[in-house]
Amino acid sequence: MKTLPLPQRLSLLDGATPLQPLERLSRHLGGPRLLLKRDDLGGLGGGGNKLRKLEFHLARALAQGCDTVLIDGGLQSNASRLLAAAAARLGLRCELVLRKRVPRTDAAYEHNGNVLLDRLLGATVHVVAGEVDSRALLEELAARARGEGRVPYVLPFGASDALGAMGYAECAREVLEQALAAGERVDRVVVACGSGGTQAGLVAGLAALGCAARVTGMSVLAPARDIRLRVHAIAEEALALLAPDMALGADAVEVDEAFLGSGYGLPTREMKEAVSLVARMEGLFLDPVYTGKAFAGLLGRIADGTIRRGETVVFLHTGGLPGLFAYVSAFDEAPPV
Ligand SMILES: Cc1ncc(COP(=O)(O)O)c(C=O)c1O
Repeated sequence: MKTLPLPQRLSLLDGATPLQPLERLSRHLGGPRLLLKRDDLGGLGGGGNKLRKLEFHLARALAQGCDTVLIDGGLQSNASRLLAAAAARLGLRCELVLRKRVPRTDAAYEHNGNVLLDRLLGATVHVVAGEVDSRALLEELAARARGEGRVPYVLPFGASDALGAMGYAECAREVLEQALAAGERVDRVVVACGSGGTQAGLVAGLAALGCAARVTGMSVLAPARDIRLRVHAIAEEALALLAPDMALGADAVEVDEAFLGSGYGLPTREMKEAVSLVARMEGLFLDPVYTGKAFAGLLGRIADGTIRRGETVVFLHTGGLPGLFAYVSAFDEAPPV
């Protein structure tokens, strides 16, 4: 397998994550063949997709002499929790600006899940109202840190830019290598899409490796049109770093918004069914905000024939388990499977 020309990174993951067939669920559905890429099993902070992006960003931050890292996100942000964990391991200060963008004020949402873990990890947490400009506040906090003689590094939203996307270009290579060794095909990768860097990295990585597998992003954040433009822009920039002589096709980025429901972090019936189905069929947990909706999208597109039963589909498990504990109320009644 060809290697990719990656920038400097540090190691947060402890090696390749497993690629596991979902035998029972694939049989239950009558196809497609489903493989699960276990990026929920990172070696740090409970695991999740942001670790691969942070490997590149934090290498750059350390090279700049940084002693304080800052990021913004929703109150139950997984990216923030993983940055706090990486900062703990590296001995950096960590400031999080967490925006209340989901209309919830119950104790589980405000104090459990990722919020609990952020505090345990020793991050300084600034909780702000949904309408606050969290990026401006981050810059203000960074300026304050500079004023105190510290060296801050502000992560982009969701750690999603071309540098962060390198993590998922490398993940694409890892998946192809594992599939080859296991005698599996890869026709399509399905992934939750929020800030877009994960999908962008996969798209750029597969293109750079000359692999024709489709990447279907299931939007969990915004209308598909906005997300598609964003993912395309990041993927183009990432591909320019990986293979400067290659260009991204106009239709390389596929984003499906049909399973977003009424908005970010708002549960849907299909999400609850998907979370229950995967738990009961495979003994594995999805999360309510990202992977639950993305898997619901996968099931929905299998049911309507968009994803064909003869395909082999890799579902990228991007983590998010702590979020389940902030969504107890959504699962008061488990849906019938
Ligand atoms: C568990 C989980 N899955 C998927 C995503 C989406 O990844 P991206 O923001 O790169 O689109 C996130 C982002 O926060 C996440 O926390």
